[in-house]
Amino acid sequence: MCGIVGYVGNKKAIPILLEGLSKLEYRGYDSAGIATFENNKISITKDKGRVKHLQELLENHSSSSNIGIAHTRWATHGKPSKVNSHPHLDNTGKFCVVHNGIIENYADIKKFLMDNEYKFISDTDTEVIPNLINYYYAQNNFLQAVYLACKDLKGSYAIEVLCQDYPDHIIVVRKDSPLVIGTSNDGNYIASDIPAVLSHTKNFYLLEDNEIVEVYGNKLNFFNKNLEPISKKTEIISWDESAIEKNGFDDFMLKEIFEQPKTIRDTIGFKLDKDKITLDNIEFSKEFLSNISKIVIVACGTAMHAGLSAKATFENLCRIPVEVDVASEFRYKNPLVNKNTLAIFISQSGETADTIGALKIAKEKGATTLAISNVIGSSITREADLFIYTHAGPEIAVASTKAYTAQVTLLNILAFYIAQVLGYIDNKLIKSLKEDLFELPNKIETILENTEEIINISKDIYSAKDAFFLGRGIDYPVAMEGSLKLKEISYIHSEAYAAGELKHGPIALINDDFPVIAIVTDEVLASKTVSNIQEVISRGAKTIVITTENVSKAFNYIIKIPKTNQYLTPILSVIPLQLLAYYISKEKGLDVDKPRNLAKSVTVE
Ligand code: M6R
Repeated sequence: MCGIVGYVGNKKAIPILLEGLSKLEYRGYDSAGIATFENNKISITKDKGRVKHLQELLENHSSSSNIGIAHTRWATHGKPSKVNSHPHLDNTGKFCVVHNGIIENYADIKKFLMDNEYKFISDTDTEVIPNLINYYYAQNNFLQAVYLACKDLKGSYAIEVLCQDYPDHIIVVRKDSPLVIGTSNDGNYIASDIPAVLSHTKNFYLLEDNEIVEVYGNKLNFFNKNLEPISKKTEIISWDESAIEKNGFDDFMLKEIFEQPKTIRDTIGFKLDKDKITLDNIEFSKEFLSNISKIVIVACGTAMHAGLSAKATFENLCRIPVEVDVASEFRYKNPLVNKNTLAIFISQSGETADTIGALKIAKEKGATTLAISNVIGSSITREADLFIYTHAGPEIAVASTKAYTAQVTLLNILAFYIAQVLGYIDNKLIKSLKEDLFELPNKIETILENTEEIINISKDIYSAKDAFFLGRGIDYPVAMEGSLKLKEISYIHSEAYAAGELKHGPIALINDDFPVIAIVTDEVLASKTVSNIQEVISRGAKTIVITTENVSKAFNYIIKIPKTNQYLTPILSVIPLQLLAYYISKEKGLDVDKPRNLAKSVTVE
């Protein structure tokens, strides 16, 4: 979704801002804009379209400004257009704002301002912000005016503000939308996402909700929600800058698929170092866990599929009932959670609005909340009682791959750990689970060495209009994830079904050459799924089977994957599905990393 970059320092601002915006392209956007000070006057360049277009507009712009704010917009209020692009000015041209998030009460504020003779030129919610600041500026200084304006705003926002009267200042504020400030001897770098400015610094201030920062020269003044001065410490971000480059791969998605042996190794880390399983920064007592009567796992999209894949491990090994829910549903259903619930929230970005909203509800109801995120210091980790990180490194492609397998790995380790503390698994089983975990990266490498057959399949089915993904038991959530990947990046309509459900309706859609992709790894259920595949073959379907088993040669394509412990199998069986979606998208000539209408981090409801 929208992205923010800002800079104040001793270097030229425009190249830093443009570089930052291009690093944020992966988030999904439709317009881009920049504001700097030129000859002590705010100067704005903005338009709909890509950052490259903005770059062209700025080509003959001789700027020496060493302060600026910049934005990529993903339209919410008002279609993509130049006038709706950020930055936005107030009526007098004194205040200039970029904003991520949504101002829920913008209509009321707009009416109030219009009653006070303010005029509006865009359809955005954002345009009320500079005008409201202007309204308060009549009686207050710049910092106070921004503070008072923010007190009136409802919704989510990360904003940067420039003021004509303070040409060396940027004021920034965040609420329910991420914002960080990287700091170095060359200046201060503001960003909605760390990768935007990672090439300049690894030292970051991670802003909390309602904090306001006055950034000027090399100085940073932090204030709390009551505008009282506070001090903050920086965090060192260990991400390697090369992690946000393609490093010879055509696309980030392919690079991230191939990184999975490493990311799984990193996520396992030292958790299995000794005889016992230990977690990075969590220790549960047997007494605490004995009082847990239910585990709820809440997330969106791929992260929710990771939860579904791990449900069986928790239920079978920990003997605790598990509910997995979509965050946008969970938060509004008055969920049945209480102090005896362990509520686990999974989010790669750690900034997904619905997941954070759901977490707040569970917390209010007394549950112990545990966040699993891939981004250090992300909002979800700060909201939750406890957190653990996956170690997948920055994931740039919109379609999540390495974060998903890291989440499934970590959830399984968490389940093994809980079962161990509760005394449900003995040392022999722990030893064998550990061996299986350690072997996973090599097994992933084996799958990645054999992409030729998947490329052939892609060439055969890329022009299909629809596809089905089937699986039973542990294979069903993997089918859901395979289906989501395909629709996200190839725009082929696809559905996932529990294989036994097909004949209760969906089989009516099968006709000649309809692609059916089945996952068959569950030894006990394999013969049943195979029978369901036979049923679609009889109706003309083209079948692609991902399996650990020796299955009938009657299928059009069989992709054999290595066997592992049943709970860990989803980490292997999803990889051919990721590759299939990738190569089909390539075959169709689509932009794999930035699929239409999608955003990497969904920071609005
Ligand atoms: O950052 P999160 O893990 O919270 O994101 C959740 C979903 O938006 C995300 O997994 C989405 O479904 C991906 N585009 C899937 O590839």
